[in-house]
Amino acid sequence: MKTESQAVVRPARNIRGSVRLPGDKSISHRYAMLAGIAEGPSRLENYSTGADCASTLGCMRALGVKWERKPDGDNVIEVQGSGMSLTAPSRALDCGNSGSTMRMLSGIASGQRFTSEMIGDASLSRRPMERVIKPLSAMGAQIASREGKPPLHITGGSLKAIDYKMPVASAQVKSCLLFAGLFADGATCVEEPLRTRDHGEVALRAFGVHLDRKNAGAGNEVRVRGGQRLRGLETRIPGDLSSAAFFLCAAGLFPGSELTVPSLLMNPTRARLLDILVQMGLRISVTQLEEINGELVGTLQVEGGKLKGARISGGASAALIDEIPVLAAIAPFTEQGIEVRDAKELRVKESDRIAAVATNLRKMGATAEEFEDGLKIPGGQSLHGAELDSFDDHRIAMAFAVAGLRASGETVISGAESAAISYPAFFQTLEEITER
Ligand code: S3P
Repeated sequence: MKTESQAVVRPARNIRGSVRLPGDKSISHRYAMLAGIAEGPSRLENYSTGADCASTLGCMRALGVKWERKPDGDNVIEVQGSGMSLTAPSRALDCGNSGSTMRMLSGIASGQRFTSEMIGDASLSRRPMERVIKPLSAMGAQIASREGKPPLHITGGSLKAIDYKMPVASAQVKSCLLFAGLFADGATCVEEPLRTRDHGEVALRAFGVHLDRKNAGAGNEVRVRGGQRLRGLETRIPGDLSSAAFFLCAAGLFPGSELTVPSLLMNPTRARLLDILVQMGLRISVTQLEEINGELVGTLQVEGGKLKGARISGGASAALIDEIPVLAAIAPFTEQGIEVRDAKELRVKESDRIAAVATNLRKMGATAEEFEDGLKIPGGQSLHGAELDSFDDHRIAMAFAVAGLRASGETVISGAESAAISYPAFFQTLEEITER
């Protein structure tokens, strides 16, 4: 049973301090899955603390993978790889709220000679899965669903390689198909229309898989040969950039802010947020840049400034998809406002994020224009605190906690517990760096 909690946010004067982020959610999911099908042990330090990544670990356990959390406080997970053949689960694989778990793990389940049932919560049960069902079926998996939505019943087995042009730019689908490709006869080729995050490719290489990649227009083509074996990995997961986005945007609200973010993920396919915040007027410098198993990591020093506006469209919308809610939530406080287009994927995330952002902004007294594929939010607005809803969506809860810092009066967010999907300590950490 879920217990509803409210968060109360009061106006702030400044953001100041240092924040070390839990491990990146996208990378944690992929490492947990690949460690499970690798040979030998893996050790993952700074594993995501979010409930979503715990869902992935729960599914891996149900598939017979042995893993344990080490009690040393640094979120270390040790996994004993099962190799490519997992064990038939005796219960449904519960993906909770996590689209990443269901979509990416369906690629591995499709390579297994048994049937897996994958289920999710009410939000996940509404999300489109035909984007993985169609190509996995073409590879030979048998998949039953509720009209393209969860639950999925996947009967895997010997897969054949395909060449697949993804109609939707989705890193989850790309990873799903590359993972399935490991079990296929021949070389599977996945082409995406726009470049999406490449953590799947980077992780596969870190586990010893050989991949070929080449540019294809604005997108990218990746090829993986089936039958390769993975070897266990010892690594440290960089801090989650999409979680850091909330603090960076909070810092942007106050010209006197000073924030340090050590050991943050800086992968270029994820770091578009930094470009856009710099263009808008935030001062960001990066020090101590290093590479850990193919992922770039650095320390950010951030100083507030007056924020100009931005227009986000085309490939930038795909690159910023998880950060758009918080950028939109601070848009009224920028000089020229923010317009987002080409982002209709936001309507099928954990909530309809376009509608959720517009509803909450209007409750705070803001003007916000809504389009099928985006939003236009004028700048230079003053907002007041209001009673808001998280729409059971972690990124909506956190985005409006940030907006509430610059509103007059108190902002109350119902369903604030959903922040724990990606970042359980969010509200506490926000409080620690907020000056009043
Ligand atoms: C993710 C990809 C994105 C993103 C999601 C995580 C990933 O989704 O929104 O939060 O880890 O690959 P899509 O694959 O649907 O674009």
